[in-house]
Amino acid sequence: MLYRLARPAIFQLDPEKAHDVTISSLSRFHSTPLRFIYSQHLPPRPVTVMGLNFKNPVGLAAGLDKNGECIEAFGAMGFGFVEVGTVTPRPQPGNDKPRLFRIKDAEGIINRMGFNNLGVDALIENVKKAKGFDGILGINIGKNKDTPIEKGTDDYVICMQKVYAYADYIAVNISSPNTPGLRSLQYGEALDELLSTLKAEQARLSEEQGKYVPLAVKIAPDLTEEEIEQVAQTLVRNQIDGVIATNTTLDRALVDGMPHYQEAGGLSGRPVQLKSTEVIRRLHQALEGALPIIGVGGVDSVMAAREKMAAGAALVQVYTGLIYQGPGLVKQLVRNI
Ligand SMILES: Cc1cc2nc3c(=O)[nH]c(=O)nc-3n(C[C@H](O)[C@H](O)[C@H](O)COP(=O)(O)O)c2cc1C
Repeated sequence: MLYRLARPAIFQLDPEKAHDVTISSLSRFHSTPLRFIYSQHLPPRPVTVMGLNFKNPVGLAAGLDKNGECIEAFGAMGFGFVEVGTVTPRPQPGNDKPRLFRIKDAEGIINRMGFNNLGVDALIENVKKAKGFDGILGINIGKNKDTPIEKGTDDYVICMQKVYAYADYIAVNISSPNTPGLRSLQYGEALDELLSTLKAEQARLSEEQGKYVPLAVKIAPDLTEEEIEQVAQTLVRNQIDGVIATNTTLDRALVDGMPHYQEAGGLSGRPVQLKSTEVIRRLHQALEGALPIIGVGGVDSVMAAREKMAAGAALVQVYTGLIYQGPGLVKQLVRNI
């Protein structure tokens, strides 16, 4: 309700400015009584996925809280899990601005942020501070832009080693369209090599730390049926614990002619909804239940979330829906799915 009143003012701002103001307000308000503005007490909807106990199946998707600055605030909003990142080994500024565009007519967003983040060490410091968070914490990892793609695996290993002790699960992002070459890691031998290395590192770290942290791989919606099957086989072969489907799309068919539709980057929100659900459906068929799917892409209503779950998702995540609808969406989803 409050968000509906505030949204016109927020939408007057440049989209990235609005994002920065929101993140800094959430992180500052959380230690004050002003947190009542976004706090919601929601009924428990417990579910166990990847061996982890989620208090409800609704999560915050990666990219909104890249540095883990508002983990407690998103927890207070009612999310059962929060995925922070994408984080890279070293801090990096991301692409030149402007790099974030609202496609209002379609309730979509185009972004080409390019993994702007403060680096993995800064993220860990923020995670350590979020002591009041009682949900599941996912940490989404990626590679620095200036690391050659042939050396990409090293960046994932560095991040994994650093975040392992602090994460409930680790998301391996190989599907952002805004880091040159990144999506090539989704195919063939490159995927096999990356996943077998990370799986071996997971075994080593779990032995060393006495704690098993599941690995989930995040894929793009722009894969063909054949590619989805190949990805599924590679995930199963490497005993990956979960798959997050999907990231943003390069496809502009559903926003053709709308303001900003030709901007480079990944499109999210309602225009990716059906595409992502279709990927989930095919993935679910190909995986035959071997590992769980976290469904993301255009979840903006109870119906959209139910469609993702009917297609095979065990959990859902939201990003763009939260921008257009505010915390009320989390309440609706948790209460009704
Ligand atoms: C501005 C913006 C930044 C994003 N950054 C990331 C990111 O850093 N890592 C990632 O895995 N996904 C990122 N995403 C993708 C989302 O996590 C999600 O997969 C995608 O937007 C589809 O969900 P939605 O339609 O609910 O937004 C980003 C999305 C947006 C809109």
